[in-house]
Amino acid sequence: MCGIIGYVGKNEAAPILLEGLRRLEYRGYDSAGLAVLDGGIIQRRRRVGRIENLYELLSVEPVHGSTGISHTRWATHGAVTEENAHPHLDASESLALVHNGVLENYRELRTELSRAGINFRSQTDTEVLACLIGLEIQKNGPITPESFRLAVERSLRRVKGTFGIAVIHCKLPGFLIGARRGSPLVLGIGSGEHFLASDVTAIVGHTREVVYFKDNEIAEITAEGFEIFSLTGSTGGSVEIHSVDFDAEAVELGPYPHFMLKEIYEQPTSLRETMRGRLSHEEASAKLGGLNMSNAELRAIERIVLCGCGTAFHAALVGEYILETLAQIPTECEYASELRYRNLPLPKDTLVFAISQSGETADTLAALRECKRKGHRALGICNNVGSTIARESDGGVYMHAGPEIGVAATKSFTSQILVLSLIALLMGRMRNLSHSQGLEILSEIEALPEKVELVLENSDYISAVAKKFARAPYFLFFGRQFNYPIALEGALKLKEISYIPASGHPSAELKHGIIALIKENIPSVIIAPEDSVFEKNLNTIEEIKARNGTVIAVTTEGCDRLNGIADEIFFVPPAPEYLMPILTVIPLQLFAYHIAVEIGCDVDKPRNLAKSVTVE
Ligand code: M6R
Repeated sequence: MCGIIGYVGKNEAAPILLEGLRRLEYRGYDSAGLAVLDGGIIQRRRRVGRIENLYELLSVEPVHGSTGISHTRWATHGAVTEENAHPHLDASESLALVHNGVLENYRELRTELSRAGINFRSQTDTEVLACLIGLEIQKNGPITPESFRLAVERSLRRVKGTFGIAVIHCKLPGFLIGARRGSPLVLGIGSGEHFLASDVTAIVGHTREVVYFKDNEIAEITAEGFEIFSLTGSTGGSVEIHSVDFDAEAVELGPYPHFMLKEIYEQPTSLRETMRGRLSHEEASAKLGGLNMSNAELRAIERIVLCGCGTAFHAALVGEYILETLAQIPTECEYASELRYRNLPLPKDTLVFAISQSGETADTLAALRECKRKGHRALGICNNVGSTIARESDGGVYMHAGPEIGVAATKSFTSQILVLSLIALLMGRMRNLSHSQGLEILSEIEALPEKVELVLENSDYISAVAKKFARAPYFLFFGRQFNYPIALEGALKLKEISYIPASGHPSAELKHGIIALIKENIPSVIIAPEDSVFEKNLNTIEEIKARNGTVIAVTTEGCDRLNGIADEIFFVPPAPEYLMPILTVIPLQLFAYHIAVEIGCDVDKPRNLAKSVTVE
């Protein structure tokens, strides 16, 4: 949700800010803007629409200066207009501010400030904060870096809600303030220059040395240094400098037309990275030191709760089947947005996992906090190192899938399932799995990347089928047991990038109502590998065919029982039932991708969506 980037140094700020915005565009792309200090003047440029529009504006109306802030917006308060685009100025137009987050009490503050004579030019919560800071500055005499920071601090103490902000003042060139509560913010340390960004991907081309802001931290930043203070008055701990473990190339498209396709093709590599160093043949188990739990503590777990949103929730659903099958631990899945407000009765030996690629999803973070507050041990399964969920959880497992830029989650999904499989193996080996069973599971896990490569080799055929069906008005997806969540995920992928309505269902639910939808031009995609429920899925296929429906099936290589029945068949290599979802989802990712491309959709920046949902 919204991307922000700030720069202070010796170079021209605008090109750095624009490049950062381009990398952050996946966080929001309704409008974009920047403000740069030039000789005591704030030069601001804003445009509705994509970053290209801002590039165009700057080519006609350039800005110069080496202190600046910028923003790409995913609208929360106020329509998508130039007036509502960031940066926002205070009433005296002395400071500029960019903001990611939501200020919940902005209406009350706006009324108060309006009574004090301030005329607002936008409908945003952010402008209210800018004006609040402006008034605080006026109350306190001549501006200095310290008085500016104190004015920002006092204003932030008055707001409720979430923020990651960057602020500059016209009288303080070479000085930048950043602060966060609830929304991500990272400081990049360069040589004679510093950066602020809501995501390291924006600055990784300039530096890999970063400091992740903790909640309620505020920083004074200059070209030469920075100092971090606490917004709550607590004396801060030492500043931890992290080294980012990927380079600028990892966030470039390379030869691919879209990040989504790149990331689909990266899955053999991302899966290898997820399992790297975590498979112990000696113990016939998984090694997951980040869980921060002893064997005795893991052995005592009686129940597992998996939560997440969107695709991460679908991975949780697969995980439920895997954990119950391999480790025989009662497991339940909850949408994080439901769990955070639900009073779920849980035994004391419950282990909670918050699953999130970004590690910043507001609902998942809130669910994690609520579970921790209730005294449960809550762990994270995240991709973004140093993200809020990763830092606030009691431990966890990083996916190590590499940066995922495409708004539609792909490689993070398969890595999430793999992490859950490793957890199930570890916990299963403490309960019911023998050494030889553990070894067998390990060898199946190790075989996955090559099997994914084989599925990817079918891309041309999947693309041809996608083109054939791209104009269908609606798609139904069916799966059973381990592959029921894959039906949900296949439908979600299609909906979010092609805007074609689609729904996923347990196969057997067909006859309980959905069958009424079956007709020739509504294709049914059925995930039916040769497994323990294959015969049941075959019945579902027959029932659809008997009603003149069209069937696209996903099944196991070598299975000929759907020949002459299904209209199209996507094959995946054989694998045990519990790992099959990692393979069966891949044709569906490709299918959704090729349909979206065929009908001319912007695959990496789908309508209304943003990569990481940091607001409720
Ligand atoms: O970063 P997270 O994994 O927490 O994100 C959760 C969802 O917002 C995300 O999976 C979303 O559903 C994707 N757009 C799905 O492709």
